[in-house]
Amino acid sequence: MEPMRHKEAHLKTSWLGKTIYKYEEIDSTNTEGKRLAENGAAHGTVIHAQVQTAGRGRRGRQWSSPKGAGIWFSIILRPDIAPESAPVLTLVAAMAVVKAIQRLPGASPQIKWPNDVVMSGKKVCGILTEMSPQRDGVDYMVVGIGINVKQQAFPPDIMASATSLEQMLPGASVSGELLLAAVLEEFEIYYEKYMQTMDMSLFLEEYHDRLVNKDKEVKVLDPRGEYEGIARGINQSGELLVEREGTLIAVNAGEVSVRGVYGYAP
Ligand code: BTN
Repeated sequence: MEPMRHKEAHLKTSWLGKTIYKYEEIDSTNTEGKRLAENGAAHGTVIHAQVQTAGRGRRGRQWSSPKGAGIWFSIILRPDIAPESAPVLTLVAAMAVVKAIQRLPGASPQIKWPNDVVMSGKKVCGILTEMSPQRDGVDYMVVGIGINVKQQAFPPDIMASATSLEQMLPGASVSGELLLAAVLEEFEIYYEKYMQTMDMSLFLEEYHDRLVNKDKEVKVLDPRGEYEGIARGINQSGELLVEREGTLIAVNAGEVSVRGVYGYAP
């Protein structure tokens, strides 16, 4: 289906979301983002869909994206960074989502490093960052964000670990449109902070305040061998610092996957 190419008049951003492709239905906003980026779509282009028929999660999983139940969107970025730095933009996105959700009265979201936003230990948002590396940089990146907003029930496989904003905030009616605008505004702010120093130093403390893994046991699924340790925070490069047998190991978001061994473990 042809999208509506759209300019959001009320959006308080200077470059992000100046063009938004709005679809009733799409396979995946990330897949469409890649198609558009390959055809030259500009830095800051946003793709949003009411429903995704093939929503994708990390590690080849599906992402449940029922019609109108959440906000399913992707951002095309063309940052001047090395491919190794690209996974940090997932942390920037998580920070933006947390700040946007915090605008809702009574909401206190947290970040499960590197790319989930959780409330009361259950996942309310997932982020899938994909990129097209070049020999000496990144051609484009697609940061896909899915926020569960309205669902009161979930498919059996994720029932125990997933939640939605309205499930967490009983009685609230959350506007997907306002939430999308809030995430884009916050994303622009934190992206620019990141680009100013090329690290997380300007918002490291803010990030730490919301890090659900901090001082918790974590299991690191390193392809070279799994191990357990205590997460102590992140460093300026966005790596998780895991204490194991008295030493701190810096774990890169792009290289390994971390599971909490304390209940919520997606
Ligand atoms: C995860 O937690 O596994 C990541 C989920 C990412 C889902 C979003 S929804 C919008 C965008 N389009 C996709 O197909 N996936 C991302």
